[in-house]
Amino acid sequence: MDSAFLQSCHIVVHQAGKYYPGHGGGEGLWAVRDLTLCARPGEFAAVVGPSGCGKSTLLSLLAGFEQATEGKVMLEGRPVSGPGPDRGVVFQEDALFPWLTVLGNVCYGLHRRGVSRPEARDEAMRFLHLVGLEEFADYYPSQLSGGMRQRVALARVLANRPRALLMDEPFGALDALTRMEMQQLLLDVWQKLNVTVLFVTHDVEEAIFLADRVYVMTARPGRVLRRVEVGLPRPRTPDTYTDPALTRLRHEVLDLLLEARNPSVLSDAIYPY
Ligand SMILES: Nc1ncnc2c1ncn2[C@@H]1O[C@H](COP(=O)(O)OP(=O)(O)OP(=O)(O)O)[C@@H](O)[C@H]1O
Ligand SMILES: [Mg+2]
Repeated sequence: MDSAFLQSCHIVVHQAGKYYPGHGGGEGLWAVRDLTLCARPGEFAAVVGPSGCGKSTLLSLLAGFEQATEGKVMLEGRPVSGPGPDRGVVFQEDALFPWLTVLGNVCYGLHRRGVSRPEARDEAMRFLHLVGLEEFADYYPSQLSGGMRQRVALARVLANRPRALLMDEPFGALDALTRMEMQQLLLDVWQKLNVTVLFVTHDVEEAIFLADRVYVMTARPGRVLRRVEVGLPRPRTPDTYTDPALTRLRHEVLDLLLEARNPSVLSDAIYPY
């Protein structure tokens, strides 16, 4: 691995493997193996792959929730040794605290970091404004729609000022229209805050609409089959969805996904930097 290149990347996963041992003497499994990808600072990278290929495992390794069994998992040139405030993680389920208000949820991480109450409130309101929810600051999560809850989850993560966002199907449970609104909102926020994003999704169109590059993973043990450069102009707008270039890329990625399910591709290691 070229060290200058390594230093220029925000996220580097190099020949990483994660083995989960079996229970009670049962056989374990490799969730991912020989997995290599990278994201430059401020880049938006998406990951698609068959169900069970290790996409969530990849995010867990980067989030520091799990340790790689082999290979390298690095952020800003340093190995990941555990969770940290430099990374914000957003899951499909919003994971808000139901007993806290919207404002309380967004303030939570700020309080834990020792930010004073008035300062935390101002900061939280700033991020609620960014996601268009400042009027709902005193609501409880149960009083919000799914899309609104996901916007709170995004505001909560962003309030911690992460340098990287790790997102695992964050819009998977939303209806099509809300999903499109959230995609647009995420791109607006990403451009304003200049964070690096690694975005896992089942939805090929979503991956292409959002990302600078899309990594297509093989079936388990997951590894990168191909990196697809998106190259659609920014800002992406509702018209982007009907851009013929997006349709072409969609076909390309769908073909790769069909290939990714075929075990014969598993023998071809590629290092798609
Ligand atoms: N904590 C764990 N213990 C044991 N096995 C695990 C654990 N987490 C994941 N696995 C296994 O690792 C493999 C990859 O799982 P992972 O959740 O990463 O897939 P995924 O690509 O996110 O799937 P999906 O698209 O369905 O969300 C699966 O076979 C799963 O059973
Ligand atoms: Mg998953």
